[in-house]
Amino acid sequence: MTADLTGVVDGPTIPFHVIDPAVHPDPDACGTWRELRAEHPVVRCETGNGGPGFWAVTRYRDIAAVYRDTARLSSKQGNMLGTLLTGGDSAGGQMLVVTDPPRHTAVRRMLMGSFSARAMAPVVDGVRTATRSLVAALVEAGGGDFVADVAAQIPLVAICELLAVPLSDRAAMLEMTMAALGADGSQESQEEAAAAQQEILLYYAGLLPGRRKAPGEDIVSLLATEEADGARLSDAEVLLNCYNIIIGGDETTRLSSAGAALALMEHPEQWERLRRDEGLLDPAVEEVLRWTTPVTHIGRTATVDIELRDRRITAGSIVTLWNISANRDAEIFEDPYRFDISRTPNRHLTLGHGPHFCLGGPLARVELRLMLEELRRQVGELESAGPVERVASSFLTGVSRLPVQCSAGS
Ligand code: HEM
Repeated sequence: MTADLTGVVDGPTIPFHVIDPAVHPDPDACGTWRELRAEHPVVRCETGNGGPGFWAVTRYRDIAAVYRDTARLSSKQGNMLGTLLTGGDSAGGQMLVVTDPPRHTAVRRMLMGSFSARAMAPVVDGVRTATRSLVAALVEAGGGDFVADVAAQIPLVAICELLAVPLSDRAAMLEMTMAALGADGSQESQEEAAAAQQEILLYYAGLLPGRRKAPGEDIVSLLATEEADGARLSDAEVLLNCYNIIIGGDETTRLSSAGAALALMEHPEQWERLRRDEGLLDPAVEEVLRWTTPVTHIGRTATVDIELRDRRITAGSIVTLWNISANRDAEIFEDPYRFDISRTPNRHLTLGHGPHFCLGGPLARVELRLMLEELRRQVGELESAGPVERVASSFLTGVSRLPVQCSAGS
């Protein structure tokens, strides 16, 4: 036994690979989440390499309670297991998602205005136009790779509109973002990811002087010129928060959009329902978010000793909240393994919960809705045209390649 198990009162310790989504691309980890929810809802995991180990929380209600408890469970050391296990996030305290209150509250308040319905209107227009022509091109071609041709493009348009990234730089931005988040756990891909993260930061550093001199309505300008707690953000904070928006909004929404197309192909009766009934668009968006759950888990660090169910978690322990498990919890969702686009209520945890609830949630919802709307409007038959490829990551889950064939709708 190599891991530090000082927090264990009793109960089993499981090896990480048992639940690692990179090992089990199936959303139920071959039944493991279901078993853990029933038998060991708060369980200690070890990584098998002598590292610190961590706690995994798998039931919806426990996860929601931890999300709300920012006083005892900090984000500052990082919110991804991979980062937490390797010494913590160097952006802690400077990038919104890995900052604790009260600083988090001040910076979040400053950013809220940029995500209001009014501020979002031009972004939504840009996304609508792009989505319409992307789906039209797919139909015209009779199909293609839904990820590359549609799902990858939409969030990029949205983020580049939000941050006013020049059109000529957008393809490079997509590549950098995919590389920054696409690490599969190997040393080589970790290094590539770190290099891509640096490139993204450098890119925004290049935009900064111009935005300071002649600020526009975009988020880079806002971060560079507005005040939080009576002072402007440092350059590092500005850049890291741009990075937060790109990383937070790009691959996540792409995985949900691609997962939506896959789910509709795997459940043709739901696709027919959606085609027949426009009124199902809103609940369909929520079901797609629940079904796909692109962010598998969120991590926290206990700042004091806490008790969760029958387990004592000591200060300093890493606590992981498995959204993919919460979103299939039968205590909350009736028949959770059924994809049902009319499901209501549908209070999934895909976008998190509590003070760090996804800032771009309304935008993600709009992007998904516009995509489903255009699929309904333009597509008739939508079918698989080859094997899918999946993202190999313990933090993100979904498809990275989705060959489809489609015909025009009537
Ligand atoms: C926070 C998921 C789309 C920007 C979060 C959190 C989750 C999440 C789970 C909570 C993190 C935590 O508690 O530590 C998702 C998913 C998305 C999505 C699954 C798409 C389906 C977006 C978009 C943007 C965005 C489109 C921006 C353009 C952010 C930001 C935060 C955040 C800035 C930090 C909020 C805070 O700490 O107060 N997201 N997100 N996300 N997300 Fe999203």
